[in-house]
Amino acid sequence: MKAFIVDKYKKMGPLRLADMPDPQFGANDVLVRIEASAINLLDSKVRDGEFKLFLPYRPPFILGHDLAGTVLRVGANIRQFKAGDEVYGRPRDLRAGTFAEFIAVDAADLALKPTSLSMEQAASIPLVGLTAWQALVEVGKVKPSQKVFIQAGSGGVGTFAIQLAKHLGATVATTTSTANIALVKSLGADVAIDYKTQDFEQVLSGYDLVLNSQDAKTLAKSVNVLKPGGKLISISGPPDVPFARSLRLNLFLRFVMRVLSRGILKKAKIRGVDYSFLFMRAEGQQLREIAKLIDAGAIRPVVDKVFPFAQTPEALAYVETGRAKGKVVIAVSQ
Ligand SMILES: NC(=O)c1ccc[n+]([C@@H]2O[C@H](COP(=O)([O-])OP(=O)(O)OC[C@H]3O[C@@H](n4cnc5c(N)ncnc54)[C@H](OP(=O)(O)O)[C@@H]3O)[C@@H](O)[C@H]2O)c1
Repeated sequence: MKAFIVDKYKKMGPLRLADMPDPQFGANDVLVRIEASAINLLDSKVRDGEFKLFLPYRPPFILGHDLAGTVLRVGANIRQFKAGDEVYGRPRDLRAGTFAEFIAVDAADLALKPTSLSMEQAASIPLVGLTAWQALVEVGKVKPSQKVFIQAGSGGVGTFAIQLAKHLGATVATTTSTANIALVKSLGADVAIDYKTQDFEQVLSGYDLVLNSQDAKTLAKSVNVLKPGGKLISISGPPDVPFARSLRLNLFLRFVMRVLSRGILKKAKIRGVDYSFLFMRAEGQQLREIAKLIDAGAIRPVVDKVFPFAQTPEALAYVETGRAKGKVVIAVSQ
């Protein structure tokens, strides 16, 4: 099959179109013909080798973390899917590889795709949808009338998280640049802060939850907009010890993560807020819940551009500019 692969870890290294063997397929797996995929900054970080200590993909490997497609075959233990089903998902860590024509995915990582979406729209959802769900529903336990600050509301995670937070009944603030203020308002943001001209720290206070996706300076400032007892959930680091433990990392890596998170934990403690790092995980059950919300019209996909499969490297480069509005999708089968 055709696939885009990483030949060796390298910062900004190339992706190469290659002929790869068809996927190995186990009793708990579903073999999917990929119709569409989507780009995530996780793809860049994996290619760069930034995550190889805890996500040790061995080159050459196929990149890509999102898919929508059609089930071709199911493993001997699988009852919940059958050939012909239209599915979407984010394969679990160390089984990624959606910039390809086919993939074998653990059935637990898949769900039937929202019926109201095209394959391309559906492929834009899994990784960012699960990230927002795990931050706001699972960890944040957002309740009606709480105040939630979602950074970078015009990005992949932000466009989904604003809509989910509104669905949960929260008042939502977000940051974006001037050109995207209308977009984030159309998604439901109550307070849209233009980060080029305004400092969110001067505008926001008494928040229950901040979803941090930016740099260390932004993270430090985020503590000050929370009320005591509020939650600071960061998806852009620093990783903390509970994260290291969840991956069963060795004592040295746990120590490294303790050191990396020491500063923000200290600041959070002084302010009486709870800091946690979130690294999203694959979860078909949550994708089923998300599909219901989408089909009910509570959340819509925001797709910036669709690239043909042959232009997957260009699509990745586009996302790496940091200017994507919502998601960038790859049409794999055309
Ligand atoms: N830990 C996890 O599980 C997890 C999961 C998903 C994502 N992430 C991480 O979360 C971060 C965001 O991911 P993403 O997929 O949403 O990224 P993305 O789609 O590439 O974000 C692009 C958006 O960010 C906005 N932006 C750039 N600089 C900004 C700033 N200083 N303030 C506010 N908005 C800004 C841009 O808006 P303008 O063009 O208007 O500037 C653009 O719309 C990445 O670091 C990613 O790796 C982590």
